[in-house]
Amino acid sequence: MFWKKYKWHRAASKEEELILNKHGICVVEIEQKKICVAKSGSQWFAFAYHCPHAGGLMNEGYLDGAGNISCPVHGYKFSLKTGASKFPEGYCIKTFKIELKPDGVYIGL
Ligand code: FES
Repeated sequence: MFWKKYKWHRAASKEEELILNKHGICVVEIEQKKICVAKSGSQWFAFAYHCPHAGGLMNEGYLDGAGNISCPVHGYKFSLKTGASKFPEGYCIKTFKIELKPDGVYIGL
């Protein structure tokens, strides 16, 4: 069995430091890479800043109550958990591990 090893990066020292925009999304920068972070229900998710279809900025996207993010450009919808698209073209957005630890919010690359 293959176990992926993650390099964990602290994105914030506590949840409250993650200032969400009007779309409920914030952007953190790790290793010069922008990553979107959002909360759906009680769970945090991390996903790519650019849409895999045509580069739309996902921090301007729309969260639904079912754990999905829609791109603001053409409306493709992706699962926050798996990154899979609900559309038949097969686009998939990159998702990242995110964990709350006693000393902060960590994202695994
Ligand atoms: S750029 Fe995101 S759906 Fe087209």
